[in-house]
Amino acid sequence: MADVLLSALLPVVMKKAADRLLQQFGVIWGMEEKLEKLERTLSAILSVLGDAEQRQVKDPAVKRWLAALKDAVYEADDMSKRVRSFFSVHNPVWFRFKMGQKLKEIVQKIDEIAAERIRFGFTVTTQPQNRDRPQSHSYIDESNVIGREKDKEKIVKLLLDHDRNQNVAVLPIVGMGGLGKTTLAQFVYRDKRVEKHFQPLIWVCVSDEFDIAKLARAIIASATGTECQESNMELLQRRLREVVSGKRYLLVLDDVWNEDQAKWDELKTLLGTGGEGSRIIVTARNEQVSSIMGTLDAYLLKGLTEDDSWTLFRKRAFEEGAEEHQNLVSIGKEIVKKCGGLPLAVKALGSLMHSKSQKKEWLSVRDSEIWDMQVGEDGILPALRLSYSHLPSHLKQCFAFFVPYFRRIMR
Ligand SMILES: Nc1ncnc2c1ncn2[C@@H]1O[C@H](COP(=O)(O)OP(=O)(O)OP(=O)(O)O)[C@@H](O)[C@H]1O
Ligand SMILES: [Mg+2]
Repeated sequence: MADVLLSALLPVVMKKAADRLLQQFGVIWGMEEKLEKLERTLSAILSVLGDAEQRQVKDPAVKRWLAALKDAVYEADDMSKRVRSFFSVHNPVWFRFKMGQKLKEIVQKIDEIAAERIRFGFTVTTQPQNRDRPQSHSYIDESNVIGREKDKEKIVKLLLDHDRNQNVAVLPIVGMGGLGKTTLAQFVYRDKRVEKHFQPLIWVCVSDEFDIAKLARAIIASATGTECQESNMELLQRRLREVVSGKRYLLVLDDVWNEDQAKWDELKTLLGTGGEGSRIIVTARNEQVSSIMGTLDAYLLKGLTEDDSWTLFRKRAFEEGAEEHQNLVSIGKEIVKKCGGLPLAVKALGSLMHSKSQKKEWLSVRDSEIWDMQVGEDGILPALRLSYSHLPSHLKQCFAFFVPYFRRIMR
């Protein structure tokens, strides 16, 4: 498995491990310097991973080198987790000492592996700089949304239903990463009845930080169509209340991770001046988030049906208008079944199969042992792991697209 996901995950795993270790050891052990060096070493390794992943197929020595690297990186990650869980309960000096020693060993091991790369003479490639996930927005081409009509109807009904006791009701849409929560929220947002009923319509991608001032600025900007630069919190709260006051607005807070009740209460108070029938849709992976924020029962999103998954897969896998190979169709349907209705996986596999025209290639994906793997510690679904492992090295870079999905699962 040394070939799988290393270049995509190495920076993520290491960053987390380094952050955790720094938090616990910090300057006390002079670890800061060591970890900085480790980061530099890893970035040097990262620049040759693309080439190494390609060459390992033919060169067993490269394959062994990659396996050793992966082990060392996971060892560091594992250790940082142990440190974290231990420190939450105890804090004896001997444990710190032991872990400090262990960390030194790991740093040294990675150093040695890094030094060894020189003997392979790998080609250096630059890594994509920005691995952050792009911000979502409200626009969607509805013709690209497969299925979800029934989900949309149910949600529109909930939004338009008048519950006189609630001025501003909050509806969470909950489900795992890649299930289509954002897509469904966009689909609802663009519905004609919704557009007619609410004014203004506001879309805010929350993602990482639940920062009240930042969110207030984003809400004002989306509602008025003009950028808001206000930094004074007093003026900002006034502006925000003015924008929503007395209006029947719809606000989508997409991709929320905040579990801090107090922060939400603060924002909710400001939004509470909205007119009767105002609604807030919150999309979240985490039920805890939804229980803090929701005033209506959470909408628990399910996977796509097998038929809809197949429609999505085919659009990606086969040329439009081209005749589909009957023997590929039946294998494709079995592949789709294994994706369990997760649109992100269906899309990834569809795109993967687009590049393959041989029956044996389709069979090899269908029968891959990766399907039998459990969702790992790294949170990677077998379907996505599989689509990654089949990509040629240069395309693995594109996999950076998926990294944010994993990163979130790893939190
Ligand atoms: N019904 C659908 N039809 C076509 N494509 C879809 C559908 N639902 C989701 N997708 C596609 O699947 C991918 C993941 O969807 P989306 O971003 O909506 O998931 P999500 O649940 O919001 O994930 P996350 O928790 O990571 O935010 C996107 O590329 C999206 O275009
Ligand atoms: Mg989303």
